[in-house]
Amino acid sequence: MGVQDTRAAPTSRESALALLRWYVEMGADEAIGVAAPNRLLPAKPAPVQQPVPPPAPAQIAVRRAPATPVVPPGAFAESLAEAAQSARRLAAGAETIDGLAALVAGFEDCPLKRTATKTVFIDGNPAAPIMFIGEAPGADEDRIGRPFVGRAGQLLDRMLAAIGLDRSTVQITNVIYWRPPGNRKPTTAEIAACLPFVLRHIALAKPQVLVLCGGTAASALLPVSDGITRLRGRWFELAIPGLDQPVPTLPMFHPAFLLRTPERKREAWRDLLALKARLASLS
Ligand code: URA
Repeated sequence: MGVQDTRAAPTSRESALALLRWYVEMGADEAIGVAAPNRLLPAKPAPVQQPVPPPAPAQIAVRRAPATPVVPPGAFAESLAEAAQSARRLAAGAETIDGLAALVAGFEDCPLKRTATKTVFIDGNPAAPIMFIGEAPGADEDRIGRPFVGRAGQLLDRMLAAIGLDRSTVQITNVIYWRPPGNRKPTTAEIAACLPFVLRHIALAKPQVLVLCGGTAASALLPVSDGITRLRGRWFELAIPGLDQPVPTLPMFHPAFLLRTPERKREAWRDLLALKARLASLS
């Protein structure tokens, strides 16, 4: 017996909305360009100008679909381990923060770069003795190319202002330089691929104080496994390769977390006061 499908066919508006929802769930939550580039394809070699021979008749008859690149399981993890190695080699050669920024901008081995629009390396004053390190660029940072320029960045600015600081007296970076698709959390391997640059940045900046914004930055840099709720407000002495002295380091809640959980601002305020007192003791 046949069964008739009595459901109304989706209107084009419904199907367009369903498609949009699917895009957002897959992490494509922004329209950046008119044509969507496939950044997963291997880079094209520069075109060589050569006369094009007329196609053979059989080639006209059989048009094959373009080959889709196949990524074998584990290939990204392997290439990320190689990326970490090449980052270590490159970072070791950087003698200035500008030089390091250029190396990061030219680094092609982190797959996140293929889906990001911009490399996001630093904001603030690269000579400032206070360094803030966050997690990874979001949509606004990816568009503008500077860390902490979106809503979380605006809260960070207000937090800095509350203790007499601003972007001329601090420098700001992240443990990841390219926006993870859909703002997902960066993986451990992605963090490991950027970490040599982050450590070199700290060594070149020689900050008097380091502030780690959020659990991702804290777990990337501190040799402890506690979550940010237990770590925040505690001072650590962080040994950095290339520096003679450990750097006093304070983990704090991430401003994006504080936007979602304003009741935790009271603890963040205590941490800011601890930072202010530490800075006063240094001057
Ligand atoms: N969150 C971060 O951790 N870093 C940014 O640059 C922006 C938001």
